[in-house]
Amino acid sequence: MDKNKAVITEGLVKHYPVIKGYRELLLHPVSKKQTTALAGVDLEVNKGECFCLLGPNGAGKTTLIKVFSTLVLPNEGKAFVNGLDVEKDSKKIRGSIGFAISEERSFYWRLTGRQNLEFYAALNNIPRSQRKTKVDEVLALTQLEEAVNLRYNTYSTGMRQMLAFARALLIDSQIIFVDEPTRSLDPQAALRVRRFLKEELVSKQGRTVFWATHNLDEAQQYGDRIAIIAKGKIRVIGTVDRLTDGGEISLQEVYAAAMKKGSV
Ligand SMILES: Nc1ncnc2c1ncn2[C@@H]1O[C@H](COP(=O)(O)OP(=O)(O)O)[C@@H](O)[C@H]1O
Ligand SMILES: [Mg+2]
Repeated sequence: MDKNKAVITEGLVKHYPVIKGYRELLLHPVSKKQTTALAGVDLEVNKGECFCLLGPNGAGKTTLIKVFSTLVLPNEGKAFVNGLDVEKDSKKIRGSIGFAISEERSFYWRLTGRQNLEFYAALNNIPRSQRKTKVDEVLALTQLEEAVNLRYNTYSTGMRQMLAFARALLIDSQIIFVDEPTRSLDPQAALRVRRFLKEELVSKQGRTVFWATHNLDEAQQYGDRIAIIAKGKIRVIGTVDRLTDGGEISLQEVYAAAMKKGSV
């Protein structure tokens, strides 16, 4: 196992069962229809890089992050996070990664930002004596100090996203998975999030950020390397410079070609 790799996947496949309507369930109770979310993903992400997984809706981005976070198990293939196997070491992985996925229904609306983080600090088994210090530290890092005593339901979308990062950072993880972190943010809030991920977490702190996005410009500007995914397969991977042939072609064209490749 290469110690410089933050994640590695080999032939990763994930199918989801398709939920049948009642009629079909009655007619064909044992037929097993399924959607293929990941169709054989081979990927390596280096430690300390800002890695953008770029692809359209339904490409498999969230599923891949869920496999790394051990929220779903693959049907075939292997996935390792910091050298740990998602199937065998799921507990260790969960205790050693941060992840902020886009559906944020997990904060308590009536509690303040601080109370929410203290709750999650307790869930993450951070000793009581260290909780306040840790919570203060992540609040400072995400620049949420002014909002600590406000209730979550008064937070803007941008502040909610930053709080999700703060929670992800409660665990002192080398790698952070973020799923479309700027979706539905206004331009200024989006810029704040992008800079936080790239400048603070990657450049300053040397962490690995695994960043799923459908925004081409975002990937182009912030990704140290980009993988373009479509229909559960990685179509191309590399630095922007390599993918665009040193700027000979635009990333838009590379993206369009990668999408076509998937349709044959
Ligand atoms: N829980 C689920 N049950 C059934 N199908 C799912 C489920 N989650 C995702 N899918 C399907 O898997 C494919 C990939 O989805 P997803 O990983 O969410 O893609 P992305 O995040 O790139 O939009 C899509 O076709 C989607 O409909
Ligand atoms: Mg998604």
